[in-house]
Amino acid sequence: MRMYDLIRKKRDGLELSGEEIRWFVEEYTKGTIPDYQASALCMAIYLRGMTMEETTELTFAIRDSGEKLHFDGINGIRVDKHSTGGVGDKTSLIVAPLVATFGVKVAKISGRGLGHTGGTIDKLESIKGFRTDIPVEEMIKIVNRYGLAIVGQNAELAPADKKLYALRDVTATVESMPLIVSSIMGKKLAADDDCIVLDVKTGSGSFMKTLDESRQLASMMVEIGKRAGKKMLALITDMDRPLGLAIGNAMEVQEAIETLNGNGPEDLTQICVCLASHMIALAGCCGGDYAYCERQVWSLIRSGEAIQTFANMVHAQGGDALWIQHPEFFPRAKLSRIVRAGKTGYITGVNTEGYGMASLLLGAGRNTKEDQIDYSAGILLRAKTGDFIEEGEPLAFLFADREERLEAAEKTFLESTFIGDQAPEKRPLILDVIR
Ligand code: URA
Repeated sequence: MRMYDLIRKKRDGLELSGEEIRWFVEEYTKGTIPDYQASALCMAIYLRGMTMEETTELTFAIRDSGEKLHFDGINGIRVDKHSTGGVGDKTSLIVAPLVATFGVKVAKISGRGLGHTGGTIDKLESIKGFRTDIPVEEMIKIVNRYGLAIVGQNAELAPADKKLYALRDVTATVESMPLIVSSIMGKKLAADDDCIVLDVKTGSGSFMKTLDESRQLASMMVEIGKRAGKKMLALITDMDRPLGLAIGNAMEVQEAIETLNGNGPEDLTQICVCLASHMIALAGCCGGDYAYCERQVWSLIRSGEAIQTFANMVHAQGGDALWIQHPEFFPRAKLSRIVRAGKTGYITGVNTEGYGMASLLLGAGRNTKEDQIDYSAGILLRAKTGDFIEEGEPLAFLFADREERLEAAEKTFLESTFIGDQAPEKRPLILDVIR
């Protein structure tokens, strides 16, 4: 087989065979296909798309490119949740303890921040001592004892995705439906869960900007997961505004703690209850009755019981669990700045990606793989879409360790906040459920 022929075929809009796709993934993972040919193929896929059959083959080839995790040592049904990436999205930190407190096991492999979006692993590493590089045997023991563990992806799990993602990141081919589907599902299917709930984000802060595209993405992922024998469900949730009020690693963990204690922002709490209830129902609890599961999850939120499960996981993974009871122990940024509204009016909308970029400029994310994160950096919102604000009132607080970072982030933040005379139409947070 020749890579040249595969590129030409896809460039001309023809369908690649399963054999060709598997050959490409295997050879690229081994290093025998150069990056310039792999990027040409990614661009051809970006421009021409892929059929469902091709996307399924690509997903399974990525899944099979490395080791698979075996969770059969875990006693009980295993359920996972995955978000397609957003700004201020700390739902995994809340949903996993809620579901585990309910008795359903969560053995979660999470990622680091990507572009303007944050990553669960970076957030957890802002807790002193927290380890995310835990071997699978230890992970299984922690899950059996406390109901959950959240660890990072090791180099052996779906290595093809690691290489392809890095390539897509620098060749403007991230926002391709078949490439996103195969990247996410290739990794998810290499882990050994019974049920997967997907949180597909839609809007200015996500990779899929329109509801139609997001629905299509969700349907493809659900279908491929089912073909692999998993129980699947996807929510389409709004990312035209950040989730909650905190954007930045340590601040997001603190907001997750508040939410588990029943004092979180309304939007974040609502999405977390919805995700957790679907995970529990999909796992077959309470006869799979979603409405019943939802009532149980609301009572867990009100009682604050799940915070102990979160603290247990933190302790088991080497973190200082005292920080969970005393969030004031989290490091504080050296400098802060108040961003004020330039005029009076309603916040008619925000460019959520711009907010993500502002937090990156503050030091909360990476521009290159090697960059060190400042865990204390980030944004605390004081006003969100739909709020009425007077000129000079605070829109947000910015935190960083250098003045020039505050300067750059303030500019981006203001450019991403739109104030007008008319209150915007209310958009629901949960836009659709794909089964
Ligand atoms: N998250 C992933 O893991 N892969 C993508 O392609 C997009 C989001």
